[in-house]
Amino acid sequence: MTKTSCSTGKSHGKIILMGEHAVVHGEPSIALPFPAVEMTATVCEADGPLTIDCSYYNGIAAEMPEILESLKTAIQSALAELQVSDKNLAISLASTIPAERGMGSSAAVSVALTRALFAYFGKPLDQATLLRLVNISEKVAHGNPSGLDAATASGDDPLFYIKGQPFEAFPLNLKAYLIVGDTGVTGQTKEAVASIAAKLDGENPQPYRDAITRLGNFAQTAKAAIEANDPQKLGQLMNQAHDVLSFLDVSSPDLDRLVAAARSAGALGAKLTGGGRGGCVIALSNSRTEAEKVETAILQAGAIRTWIYQMGGTEDAE
Ligand code: MEV
Repeated sequence: MTKTSCSTGKSHGKIILMGEHAVVHGEPSIALPFPAVEMTATVCEADGPLTIDCSYYNGIAAEMPEILESLKTAIQSALAELQVSDKNLAISLASTIPAERGMGSSAAVSVALTRALFAYFGKPLDQATLLRLVNISEKVAHGNPSGLDAATASGDDPLFYIKGQPFEAFPLNLKAYLIVGDTGVTGQTKEAVASIAAKLDGENPQPYRDAITRLGNFAQTAKAAIEANDPQKLGQLMNQAHDVLSFLDVSSPDLDRLVAAARSAGALGAKLTGGGRGGCVIALSNSRTEAEKVETAILQAGAIRTWIYQMGGTEDAE
């Protein structure tokens, strides 16, 4: 194997439009790559044994030991696959993805690290191997990952996905704008996924099974709404999905406040995105002017950061 002095690997954030949590239980989902935030892992030759600069996780690592565990697992899995004995490496992360906010940071870390390690040791990395390796560390981070985050954080296409089936690239031919707002509160994907699993295994599972099925139906109907360029319908589905996710107890007062602010400011729909219990909301608007009103309302309601994402490629929705 050829060794270079330093190599990098990249990935980006992801936004789940519909079907989070339900996707873990075999229901359809839609997610989009979110390149407005990105991750770079760098692997350099070092004089001593392997070091990892974890400053990306400063402030939250102490509360969430599993995220550092998943980072270590990502490195170990890649090195085991590469079958390397030389582990004198200095590894670091630089990122604009807010950590643990439903934007797929744990998957993005693993994708970028795996790519950087394969590049460093001069070995090609196909997508199937990348997703298999990332899934190992995602199990540590999330307990029971669907695989959606890793595929979306590593690819360029919006995806329609049912667990166990191939990822379907899915063009977002919708003339609309998505507003993303960060509560600034760390999400709890692992706990949220586990609490839904406990409800489904509990004494009264039927209402929760129905909720999961409804979320899957919303994702399926959302696909049709996008294909028909019907933002109004997609917005209604987002509102309904947020209510069902709240029933499943994966929302939070912060998320609910931003969702309410977006709706009051005229959004076609708004919901939490990702694992929930913190993290981000998404809202939908017909035009950039409307999206900016929603953005202002979300900021006034306490979002620490917002993004406006134009759907439908380069064509302007106004
Ligand atoms: C987390 O970003 C999305 C969940 O659906 C979990 C998963 O798909 O692995 C909550």
